[in-house]
Amino acid sequence: MGVGRAASIDDLRLRARRRIPRFAFDLVDGGAENERNMRRNIEAFEEIELMPRYMVDASRIDTQVTLFGQRYDAPFGMAPIGMLNAFWPDADLTLAKLCKQRNIPYVASAAASTSLERLAKAADGNGWFQLYVSGDADVTEGLIARAEAAGYSTLVVTADVPAAGKRDRDIRNQLAVPFRITPGVIAGLIANPRWSLETLRHGKPNIANYADLLQNATSYADVQKTLIKPGLTWDDLKRLRARWQGTLLVKGILHPQDAVMCADLGCDGIIVSNHGGRQVAFGPPTIEALPPIGDAVGGRIALLLDSGIRRGADILRAKALGADFVLSGRAFAYGIGAAGPAGADRAFEILELELNRALGQLGVPAFASVEASVLSRAG
Ligand SMILES: Cc1cc2nc3c(=O)[nH]c(=O)nc-3n(C[C@H](O)[C@H](O)[C@H](O)COP(=O)(O)O)c2cc1C
Repeated sequence: MGVGRAASIDDLRLRARRRIPRFAFDLVDGGAENERNMRRNIEAFEEIELMPRYMVDASRIDTQVTLFGQRYDAPFGMAPIGMLNAFWPDADLTLAKLCKQRNIPYVASAAASTSLERLAKAADGNGWFQLYVSGDADVTEGLIARAEAAGYSTLVVTADVPAAGKRDRDIRNQLAVPFRITPGVIAGLIANPRWSLETLRHGKPNIANYADLLQNATSYADVQKTLIKPGLTWDDLKRLRARWQGTLLVKGILHPQDAVMCADLGCDGIIVSNHGGRQVAFGPPTIEALPPIGDAVGGRIALLLDSGIRRGADILRAKALGADFVLSGRAFAYGIGAAGPAGADRAFEILELELNRALGQLGVPAFASVEASVLSRAG
């Protein structure tokens, strides 16, 4: 059945689930602990109603957005995802190229399975680089220098991993570093021969930017230490601001005071994010965290948002509540898992079609003009 018959991001998710072994699917699909935060991200969007207005000429819909001096064709981009080639072979490069083709931003993860240089080339001017500040200052500086040399315009510093998220599904699936073959893994490989063959053909996925450093890692704790500094502080951010000449964003902000600190330290924007509900189960959904942040920073910096975007209307809800732009992680991942490059493109198309339709239905044909007055409770 052609992927064109997938009507929604949820449909793509179900297709991906049928094609990918359980341990690999859960790695992307899962969230922290009992996944309450992950579910709430989606439910909270659904609870926000928008009020359609009719008799407005919506024959021409405009979804273009200018962000940090660059024009994009849609108000959403691809969030950084680590190790995505373990979900579907060549996922990183496929998605970087798709973002270029569709003219939306592609955020390359520090923990991607493809090197930041190759991803910069594929995204060709549309690439941003997401940095995990390492416990080793030389590792951090090495990555920044490489990102600079590769021509990334924007550095995204992820703040919300002071400790690794506890993902119950991964524990149940006995996912380990280095990767171990367990009976569950073998069953998954046999049940999904196409995935297994393709993954074998492309070679074992690794965390490409750190490949040399991780050679001797024997535990997940080792990997985590090399990748991410547990005690990231405002002083680190100050140093990063002084070091990085380009656009600087902080990803993973939920508290209004943290947002104000980012603005005070000269960041260009923040990404209101809870890592797609993968870090904590107890936190708020991002769409609920956004309005107080907007009130606190009062337009001093750009506000981006991710976590839970599954429908075009979610992008409008985010804009109505103060976001300038959104990112999506799993929507694109489900797309590529459902049908490779065609599925990833279908994910883009679904979000774009839904967004265009919703703009017409709302009676606000230009995305840039969406504001709080479209909220049903705005009266
Ligand atoms: C499998 C997976 C890996 C991720 N890896 C990273 C990462 O390396 N760096 C990062 O900042 N965020 C990472 N994230 C979080 C995403 O950037 C983004 O915040 C999240 O996916 C948004 O939620 P959504 O999937 O509901 O759209 C990851 C998310 C997933 C699903």
